[in-house]
Amino acid sequence: MSRDSQDVFSRIDREQEGYLEELKDYLRIPSISTDPAYDPDVRRCAEFVLEKMRQAGLDARLIQTEGKPLVYGEWLGAEGKPTILFYGHYDVQPADPLEEWRNPPFEPTLENDGKHLVARGATDDKGQSYAHLKAVAALLAERGELPVNVKFIVEGEEESGGEAIETFVRTDDGELLACDGVFISDSSMYSPGQPSLIYGLKGMAYMEVRVDGPNRDLHSGSFGGGVANPGNALAYIVSQLLDPETGKIKIPGFYDAVRPIEDWERKEFASLPFDEEAYKKELGIEEVFGEEGYSTLERVWARPTCDVNGIFGGYGGEGAKTILPAWAGAKVSMRLVPDQDPEDIARKFAEYVESLAPKGVKVTVKSHHGGAPVLVSTDGPIVEAALGALEDVWQKPVRVREGGSIPIVATFSEVLKVPTMLAGFGLSDDRLHSPNEKFDVDNFYGGIRAVVRFLDRLGSIHQ
Ligand code: BES
Ligand code: ZN
Repeated sequence: MSRDSQDVFSRIDREQEGYLEELKDYLRIPSISTDPAYDPDVRRCAEFVLEKMRQAGLDARLIQTEGKPLVYGEWLGAEGKPTILFYGHYDVQPADPLEEWRNPPFEPTLENDGKHLVARGATDDKGQSYAHLKAVAALLAERGELPVNVKFIVEGEEESGGEAIETFVRTDDGELLACDGVFISDSSMYSPGQPSLIYGLKGMAYMEVRVDGPNRDLHSGSFGGGVANPGNALAYIVSQLLDPETGKIKIPGFYDAVRPIEDWERKEFASLPFDEEAYKKELGIEEVFGEEGYSTLERVWARPTCDVNGIFGGYGGEGAKTILPAWAGAKVSMRLVPDQDPEDIARKFAEYVESLAPKGVKVTVKSHHGGAPVLVSTDGPIVEAALGALEDVWQKPVRVREGGSIPIVATFSEVLKVPTMLAGFGLSDDRLHSPNEKFDVDNFYGGIRAVVRFLDRLGSIHQ
């Protein structure tokens, strides 16, 4: 039998509101990693995490990289016991469009009778990963020791490519981070009160297309008909990415390496409660859309996709301005599934887009960041301990895949060669990457308890 965690739970009951205040301080730091203007805030945020790790009782330090610093902490006093590595990210997505926030994004606000904490980063990933740290802090404060060994690595570039941690893990060849299992909370539960263990994440190839025409914006009457329009050319290119009827991606060779969804997965996905009407209603859409021949969950979790993230160029202001723009651009992301290779897909995208270039304009394709798709194993005693811990707090978890990406997970699997547990405390309506992002306060507290249970259950495995 695993030790019961009542001693620590009582402490959490007494102190959890203080934990929430600390989380608010964390959320006040605008650690937007993609925009260099925020570099000082990103740094300050790393120092905040460092300080909190030290206060919890971890031996902690910053690891400088060519990009944003990594925050590392450890407590290795449980001799002969397994070691768990907790991963999280302290960076956040940009907050715009700012005018759609009910309160400023970096002034965390409790809404809905104190049930929701609203701020950029609330769920993704400050709130979720802070639950790991508070669990360890509560255990150490209560008992002066932990049932197992722990390591923490918190990165600052997850939302913008994650090169620093990727390089660190590969160069270090997994020495510092050597462990028996990785625990990550940077995703959602299946539904409120229904936890999930994710066994598949998508990969990513992120591209930018730029179409250049004349050396300046031109009068569309004096020059239209004489000069190719980059806006029109870009629209044509974008229209050729996807078949609007079948939802199939038209890039030659795009599907070559796609591993088919297995029969047992189709059955398992189909057995999950999924209310498509409620889904449409919550999102304000009339119809779902995607690749033909697959259900919505199959498409979101296990089929590759291609999406325009933004189109820009020309006149977008009030009223009408009659120009033929000098240039136009688009950002396009492709979510990948095993065994697609981000570099191979980026190359195929570039070749295809260049081949579509209409006459009279110059088309350039740039590749931003990528990340490999991953499937992780969900067997073994450590994973069982995580499943049991989630069940202790909520109910028996379901096994699912996810459409989101956490690029370092594939690298962890490859280099550390241990099970990775993806157990999120978020909810699907948390609005991550959108205005008014929130985190359920009860899930923050529940997440802390689940991690305590996980470590206590693990501690009793090897006695
Ligand atoms: N937390 C998300 C990933 C996620 C979202 C997992 C939803 C499961 C469910 C993560 O912070 C994220 O947004 N990652 C980026 C990575 C990208 C920039 C390479 C993503 O998925 O867009
Ligand atoms: Zn995240």
